[in-house]
Amino acid sequence: MFALVRFAFLLAASATACFGAAPMGWNSWNSFANIVNSQIVQRQAQALAANGMKEAGYEYVVIDEGWWLGERDAAGNIVVNPKQWPAIKPGQRDGDMANIADFIHRLGLKAGIYTDAGRDGCSMYPDSGPKYMHTGSEGHYEQDFEQFLKWGFDYVKVDWCGGAKEKESGAVQYAQVARAIQRAQKVTGRRLFLSICEWGSQNPWFWAPGVGGIESTIWRTGGDIIPPVVESLPDPEHAKRVITLKNVLDSFEAGMHPEAQHTGYYNDLDMMVMGMRGMTDAMDRIHMGLWVMASAPLMVGSDLTRLSPETLSLLKNGEALAIHNDPFGLQPIKVAEPTPGVQVWAKPMAVAGRRAVAILNRTDSSAQVKIDWGKLGLVGAPRSLRDVWDGRDFTATDVALSIPAHDLLLLSVDGEDKKPAEYPANQSVIAGIQATSGPTFARLEYANTSGQVVVVRVKSTSGLSTGLALHPTAGLDTGAAGFLLPRGTADLSFESQTATVRKLAVFSW
Ligand code: GLA
Repeated sequence: MFALVRFAFLLAASATACFGAAPMGWNSWNSFANIVNSQIVQRQAQALAANGMKEAGYEYVVIDEGWWLGERDAAGNIVVNPKQWPAIKPGQRDGDMANIADFIHRLGLKAGIYTDAGRDGCSMYPDSGPKYMHTGSEGHYEQDFEQFLKWGFDYVKVDWCGGAKEKESGAVQYAQVARAIQRAQKVTGRRLFLSICEWGSQNPWFWAPGVGGIESTIWRTGGDIIPPVVESLPDPEHAKRVITLKNVLDSFEAGMHPEAQHTGYYNDLDMMVMGMRGMTDAMDRIHMGLWVMASAPLMVGSDLTRLSPETLSLLKNGEALAIHNDPFGLQPIKVAEPTPGVQVWAKPMAVAGRRAVAILNRTDSSAQVKIDWGKLGLVGAPRSLRDVWDGRDFTATDVALSIPAHDLLLLSVDGEDKKPAEYPANQSVIAGIQATSGPTFARLEYANTSGQVVVVRVKSTSGLSTGLALHPTAGLDTGAAGFLLPRGTADLSFESQTATVRKLAVFSW
C-alpha cells in the first residue's frame, strides 16, 4: 500500500526551552483516591525528596481527583476547602493551593494538579464518599490554567469524565485545552505540562502529539490499571482490591502505539502500581522493565512511605532509567516470540547500534532464549551484552539466556547496525520510503535554525498521524530525531522555511 506521510509545520511556540523525556514523579490517585489532602501530599513529597527518587529523576508531585469539590466564587474562580488545604507556614492563607505548590517547590520538586475537560469531573462518580458535580474546567479553561500557574503548578492532568458524558470530541476539546494552556503560559511566563487522560477512548495516538500546537504532551492509552487501593480506608470494597500481573500486562499492550511516539510525545500506560497490594518483586520487575522500555511516563502511584527496599531500588535503577530517558524516547518492537508467551522486545536507541531488550516470560515455566541478533537489525552478535537488573556484563554474547517463570530480563546491548537505506538530503519531499518489515526505525537528521522548537505534523494513509518536535539546532549542528514508520511505502514531505533535512536513514530489521 502506498502511504503518504506529510510533514506540515504547525506553530513554533515562543520559548526554546522544551520538555524532553517522559515525565517522572508521583501521583496521589492509586493510593489515596479522593481522600487526598495537604498532609498526605506533604508526606509523600518529603518521602520522594528523601528516599533517593528525586536524585534518580522523579520530579513531579501530582495531586489527582479530590482536591476540589466543584465550588467557584462569583467571578468563576475555584474555591478550595481551607481545612483540606490549610496554611503550611506563617503568612499563608488557609484554602490557598499556592501553599502546597510552594511546599513541593521548596523540596526542589515540581507540582502537578488535576481537572477535567468537561463541565463535570470524575467526582460525579466518586470512589468513596459523596459525589460532587462541576469539578471540570469547561467554560473556564483559560481562567483555570492561569490560576494553576499562578498558584505555582507546573503540570496538569486533564481527565475526560465530563467530556465523555457530554459526548465531546477529544481532538477538538484537548486542542482547546492546549491552546488555553499556551495562552496562560504567555500571561504568566511559566510552563504547564499537559497530561491528557481520555483512556484511549478516541484513539488519541492519532491526534494527541502536537494537539493545539503543544510542544510536548502525554496521553493515556487505556483505563486504570486498577481502582485505587487506599490502605487506610475501612472500606470492604478497598479491602478486596488486589493487583494481578494481567492488569499490568493489559495496560502495557493497550499502550503500544509506536508510530505516535517521539521525543516529547508519549503514550501514557497509566500511573505505576509498583509495590502495591498483590505486586511481588518479579511483578515489579516486569512493570518497571516494560514501562522503561516503552519510555512511558513513570508516575508512581504507590504510597512512597511504604515502599520496600527492593521496590525502591528497582525504581531508582540508573541503567533502567537511562533506557527510559533515551533521547529518542521510542517504544519497543516485538521481534520474536520463540514459544507462546515468551516475548523478545527490542527498543531502538539514539546511540548507533544500541538496543534495549526485554525478554518477557509470561508462562508458568522458566524459559531459555537465544536471541537472533539479525532480528534486531544488528550485524552478527553484539560487542557487549549487559544485565540491567544486576549491572553485570555477560562474557559471551551469543548465549542462551534463562528467564524464570513470570519474570523479565532487561538487557542493554551494543553492536553494529546493519547498513540503513539512506535518502537524499535538502529536499522538501522524500518519496518511496520502504518500510516493509513492520514498524521500521527511521532516524532523521535535520537542521532547525529558527531558534524554536518546530512541531511537524505527520500523516499517513497507513494509519500514521502524529507530530514530531524538532528541537532547535545552532550553526552547522545537526539535530536527530527517531521515529517508527508503519509498514508500507511512505513519502515524507517537509513544508518549512526554517528546518531542512540533512539525512534520513531507514533501518530494516
Ligand atoms: C480516571 C483516571 C484516573 C484518575 C481517576 C480519578 O479514572 O483514569 O487516573 O484520575 O479518574 O477519578
